[in-house]
Amino acid sequence: MTSGLRQGLTNYGDEGFSLFLRKAFIKGAGYTDEALDRKIVGIIDTGSGFNPCHGNMPSLIEAVKRGIMLQGALPIVFPTISIHEAFSHPTSMYLRNLMSMDTEEMLRAQPMDAVVLIGGCDKTVPAQLMGAISADIPAIQLVVGPMVTGSHRGVRVGACTDCRGYWAKYRADVIDLEEISAVGNELVPGVGTCGVMGTASTMACITEAMGLMPLGGASAPANGSARLRIAELSGKLAATKVMRPSSVLQKKNFENAITVLQALGGSTNAIVHLLAIAGRVPGLNLTLDDFDRIGKETPMLTDLKPSGTQYMEDFNKAGGVPTLLRYLRPRLHMDALTITGMTLGEALDRHPSSFSQTLIHPLNQPIFKSGALAVLRGNLAPNGCIIKQSSSAPHLLRHRGKAVVFSGSVDLQKRIDSEDLDVDENSVLVLQNIGPRGNPGMPEAGYIPIPKKLARRGVKDMLRISDGRMSGTAAGAIVLHVSPEASEGGLLAVVQDGDLIEVDVEKRTIELVVSRDELNKRSNVWKETVRPEVVKQRAGRGYRKLYETSVLQAHQGVDFDFLVAEKV
Ligand code: FES
Ligand code: MG
Repeated sequence: MTSGLRQGLTNYGDEGFSLFLRKAFIKGAGYTDEALDRKIVGIIDTGSGFNPCHGNMPSLIEAVKRGIMLQGALPIVFPTISIHEAFSHPTSMYLRNLMSMDTEEMLRAQPMDAVVLIGGCDKTVPAQLMGAISADIPAIQLVVGPMVTGSHRGVRVGACTDCRGYWAKYRADVIDLEEISAVGNELVPGVGTCGVMGTASTMACITEAMGLMPLGGASAPANGSARLRIAELSGKLAATKVMRPSSVLQKKNFENAITVLQALGGSTNAIVHLLAIAGRVPGLNLTLDDFDRIGKETPMLTDLKPSGTQYMEDFNKAGGVPTLLRYLRPRLHMDALTITGMTLGEALDRHPSSFSQTLIHPLNQPIFKSGALAVLRGNLAPNGCIIKQSSSAPHLLRHRGKAVVFSGSVDLQKRIDSEDLDVDENSVLVLQNIGPRGNPGMPEAGYIPIPKKLARRGVKDMLRISDGRMSGTAAGAIVLHVSPEASEGGLLAVVQDGDLIEVDVEKRTIELVVSRDELNKRSNVWKETVRPEVVKQRAGRGYRKLYETSVLQAHQGVDFDFLVAEKV
């Protein structure tokens, strides 16, 4: 018997009895000895009535099963939790580490020789990779695939960049309630992940670049036959070739992922996720500096929303990640291993060749010269913060302005649209206390809306700073992930209305222009008066307690401290 049901037989201290029991119980589900006496490939089902992005899960599972059985192995499907962006209170990020723990422990607990991880919606792929790397069993990532676009009054629309665009128009009184309701019927025209280069598609593409998914696996739409063929192939590979993450992942896999992330102008969330995923690999050190270093040398090559104009279905038709990898070849480690044991270069050589198209640009015709995602440092963010400069208004990339400060999401909601708010287009909007620990889950509130009175005057972008995140489908001159966060005593906590803030993206700096003496004074007051209150409000029980006591800062990937692998 190949390992199959024999994996991890320790529960009764008597291996023979444990195997006997396992067999007896699973026979209750109608299996024969012949079915059981073979390699077992697990399939993780993350379908849920609350996760419309994963609505094609049943057909994908069927196709994966077919692939596994074609190779003579036995597929066994099992669930883990499922996380959807819009149905995860307080945020999906809050639950990412929980899903990674669920994935890791179920992979350890149940007998299987390999696993097909099926994820898609934003946090599910990083959670699955984190769990599978920690469990270190042979694993391959399959995604549900992006949704296709809808159409509103003859204009193509897709979640969720256009959700934001239309909402901004509604806020600025450009469109009325009837029209915003009508567009709501078209933004999500079917199952699958958001149709732009948001977090879900960014994570899918960089997982492909990292070698943990077959080439071409990221971009095929959720509702097409190609998606099912990728699912079948994933099952086949899992039953035959797939290796343990520890045998595949080296720093060069992550460097390839970052190169692709920068060339895509991908989601800012991917930075946090990649740091967390790398954190699970023993001995591997990845830092924000790696993102900035690689970004400086990597032009943005793809015209995709939210930075550009096109949708995921167009990216797929243009050849998807393999085409991008071909253009990026001189900047990638072609000797990096992929999950099937081939190097990235070998896999690319075997993949159908690319053709002429206009969405993915060659290296000598970049869309944005370099560093779509840049890392800034300064007194306001000694451990770093990030900005997606490819989606910012260029005049704001070097900017000095007076702070307009909001103490948290509730304060923001209360005052942002007030006619009395002392703000103009040169102001710097600062939002405090939405970091990993301060507002558990680090909400995507970093996309601070333009104050209504300015939006009505046609102001489209302003410099905005917070310790939170923003959706991968959002755009603007938005500084995020300030570390340390306000509620951990970062200087962000003591910014006051009217303080001057200077950001220079080319120089990679962010400064609060206030004297050191004054800042020390404010910090001392904060420690004595605010800090005790912040600590008092923390939860006393449950997952939230675990989260609040263990979560790391943004520059460390927002993983739990006890889940990170040993670093040499
Ligand atoms: Fe699921 Fe955007 S909401 S991918
Ligand atoms: Mg998102």
